[in-house]
Amino acid sequence: MSIFRKKPLNDLLPNNKSGSVQLKKTLNGFDLILLGVGAIVGTGIFILPGTVAAIHSGPAIVFSFVIAAIVCALAAMCYSEFASAVPVAGSAYTYGYVIFGEFIAWLLGWALLLEYGLAVASVASGWSSYLNAFLKGFHLHIPTAISGSFDPANGTYFNLPAILIVFLVAFLLTRGIKESTRVNTFIVILKIGVILLFLAVGVFYVKPGNWQPFMPFGVSGVLNGAALVFFAYLGFDAVSSAAEEVKNPKRNMPIGIIGSLLVCTLLYVAVSVVLTGIVSYKDLNVSDPVAFALQLINQDWVAGIISLGAVIGMLTVILVMLYGGTRLVFALGRDGLLPKAMAEISPKYRTPVKNTWIYSVIIAIFAGVVPLSRLAELVNMGTLFAFMMVSLGIIFLRKNKDVSKSGFKTPFYPVLPIVSSLLCLFLITRLQPLTWLVCGIWFAIGLVVYFFYGKRHSNLNK
Ligand code: ALA
Repeated sequence: MSIFRKKPLNDLLPNNKSGSVQLKKTLNGFDLILLGVGAIVGTGIFILPGTVAAIHSGPAIVFSFVIAAIVCALAAMCYSEFASAVPVAGSAYTYGYVIFGEFIAWLLGWALLLEYGLAVASVASGWSSYLNAFLKGFHLHIPTAISGSFDPANGTYFNLPAILIVFLVAFLLTRGIKESTRVNTFIVILKIGVILLFLAVGVFYVKPGNWQPFMPFGVSGVLNGAALVFFAYLGFDAVSSAAEEVKNPKRNMPIGIIGSLLVCTLLYVAVSVVLTGIVSYKDLNVSDPVAFALQLINQDWVAGIISLGAVIGMLTVILVMLYGGTRLVFALGRDGLLPKAMAEISPKYRTPVKNTWIYSVIIAIFAGVVPLSRLAELVNMGTLFAFMMVSLGIIFLRKNKDVSKSGFKTPFYPVLPIVSSLLCLFLITRLQPLTWLVCGIWFAIGLVVYFFYGKRHSNLNK
C-alpha cells in the first residue's frame, strides 16, 4: 500500500454527481469581509505591534505588517480555489488527501493541529494579559505566580486565566455553541470600535521623535518581523471555507479575502504607527502594549475600555480556532489516521466531546506555561508550511480531471501560486532556529504516529 494513495474526489462529494444537495448561496462580498475581520482580529493587533517592534522591527513594523499581508493575500487566493473545488471540512488536510496523497495530507493535518492548537494557546495567553490589564483598572490583581508563562526568574509559574479560558471555550463547543453571524457582527463592531478609540485618543500624544530611528534593526529585522506578525492575519481561511455559500464567487471571493485583509492591514498599520509614536519602541516589550501606552499618557479609562473590548473580541478568535482544530482532529479520526475515538460524536450534544476535551487539555497546558512569543512562532511555522503546500497544490489541482471547472479560480495562474509558495518558504527561513528545532521534533513525532498507526489503520486500506 502506497503512502501516496489518494482519496478520490468523488468520495468526498457524495452529491457531486446528482448535484442535488448544495449549500445555499447567500453571502456577498461585504458579509465575507465581516466574517474575515471577525476571525482575524484578535491577539495580534493588541500585542504584536508592541513586542515585535521592540525586538525585531522598530517603528518599521508597519512594513512587516504590509509584507505579511501580501503573503497572506496570495495564499488566501489559492485556499479559495481549493475551498470551492473541494468544499468539505478539514481544510488543507482534505485538499492534500485528494491532490498529494495520504502521506502529505497527514503532514499537512499534523502541521495544522499545531497551528490551530497553538493559535488557541497564544490567543488565550494574550487574552489573559488584557484581562489582567482590565482588572488592574479596578485595583484587582491576579497573583503574579499564576498570571504568566513559566518564568521563575520573574516570579511567574503558570497562566491560570489562559488555562481557564481554553476550558471555558471547550465547554461551550462541546455544547454545540457556534458563533452566530449576529454575534460575529456585534463583536466585529466592538473590536473595530475600541481600535478606533485607541487611535483617536493616542494620535494626540504622538511624538514624532519616537519614530527615530525608523528601522533600527535594518531590513533583516523588518523581514523577521513579517514572519512573526504573520500571526495577526491568521483566521482568514474562515473566508475561504465559506466559498460554497458565496453568491457569484468569482467576483465576491477576491473581494472578501482582499477586503478583509485590507481592513486588517489598515488597522494594524494605524495601531503600529500610533503606538510606536506614543512610546519608544524600546519600551514596548510588555504583555499588553496598547493598554500600557495608554496608561503612560494617563488615559486609564480608555485603557480599561480597550482592555475590555480586547477581552471580548479575542474570545471569538479562540472559539473559531478551537472549533477548526477539533473538526480537524475529527476528520483525522474518521479517516483512520488517528484512533476512531477521535471521531466519536456524543449522542446527547451531537458534538465530538471526547476529542474536544483531549485536544483542549493539551492546548491548555501550552497556554499555561509557554510564552506567547514562542507560541506564535510555532503557529506561524505550521501555517506557512500548510500555505506553501496549498499554493503548490493549485498546480496539481488544475491538472485533476475530476474537479469541476466552474468554481473560483486563482488569478494569474501559474505565476501567483508559485510566487505564493516561494514567499511562504522565504518567511519560514526567517523564523528562529529554536522554532525549527521544536517543529522538527513535532514532525518527527508525526512520522512515528503515521508509520506505526495511521498507515495501518487508514480507511483507504479497506
Ligand atoms: N489572527 C489572530 C489573532 O491575531 C490569530 O489573534
